[in-house]
Amino acid sequence: MNVAQPIEWTGKGVVMLDQRRLPGEVIHHTYTDYREVAAAIKDMVIRGAPAIGVAAAMGVALGVERSSARTLDELRAEFPGICRTIAQTRPTAVDLFWAIERMTRRFEQLSAANTPFDALRRALVEEARAIHAEKRATDEAIGRFGAKLMPATGQVMTQCNAGALATAGIGTALGVIRVAIEEGHKLSVFVPETRPYLQGARLTAWELHEGGVPLTLITDNMVGHFMKQGKVDAVVVGADRIAANGDTANKIGTYQIAVLAREHSVPFYVAGPVSTFDLTISSGEQIPIEERSAEEVTHIRGVRIAPDVPAAHPAFDVTPARLISAIICERGVARAPYTESLRRLASIVMAIS
Ligand code: MRU
Repeated sequence: MNVAQPIEWTGKGVVMLDQRRLPGEVIHHTYTDYREVAAAIKDMVIRGAPAIGVAAAMGVALGVERSSARTLDELRAEFPGICRTIAQTRPTAVDLFWAIERMTRRFEQLSAANTPFDALRRALVEEARAIHAEKRATDEAIGRFGAKLMPATGQVMTQCNAGALATAGIGTALGVIRVAIEEGHKLSVFVPETRPYLQGARLTAWELHEGGVPLTLITDNMVGHFMKQGKVDAVVVGADRIAANGDTANKIGTYQIAVLAREHSVPFYVAGPVSTFDLTISSGEQIPIEERSAEEVTHIRGVRIAPDVPAAHPAFDVTPARLISAIICERGVARAPYTESLRRLASIVMAIS
């Protein structure tokens, strides 16, 4: 499957495709300092929950690999600061914190075993690369489980970009659609533009078009119209954080699509890896919602489109579990009651690792 690669670990450093410049320009940056990786996450060079997780892991590995520490004790003193810098980038996608925690566990294991300095650096790079490879496998599995839920023929709506650009694999929501098409489903995709940051128009439309997947780009306020006309057969979206009860944070605008899907009896699916589950919180009310700059609302690509007035920009919203038909992860498909099904699927992962 031919998909865009948003991030790679190379001998020169961490290479990222600059998603801010798509679809007009395909530009890559090479980062050699973990602070640059943190800035790239914050500034949306890379975005999408699983891809942010991979970037965070590579950022930690880079911090350790390029550290000027000369002893393990010096590195131990420096390590929490590296993790803090990366953690303070974007608050909603739990994959970021999951990846930092996993890198921290590995670091602690290695340093408790008094692993020689160079071996420890190499092992952390390997851990970050393993996380990257696992994301690819995870997406494929999500795709296979999700494809079974897709209609044999019809139009599927998504929101934002939950494709290869967002995961470093084949995508979660878009992975489901891609695998379904590979398996013979005749699907086309409704792509809401996803104001204000336009991930739908700029990234999903680009990614699907490049991959030869039929699509129709619409503005966000056309969703109800097309659902009412019976033109949407299913919705599948990604997730930034899924609470223990199934409430799901995803890109702003997801909630209104879920409400409309319920009104029009359209199944509404969430696709996300187990690393997106946050079973430490009981409901979506506890999910921190990132507030981004109001300028992203009043301006499009630097051009002012509104008078100089106050504007709001919550970057995510929370869809209540009762509006979600199923949650697709790499271990299977969770259905209500989610408090039980999510815990069961998460514990399968814990038993294996
Ligand atoms: O602000 P973004 O572009 O990082 O938001 C991305 C989304 O909301 C995605 O739908 C989500 O991260 C899932 S990506 C598989």
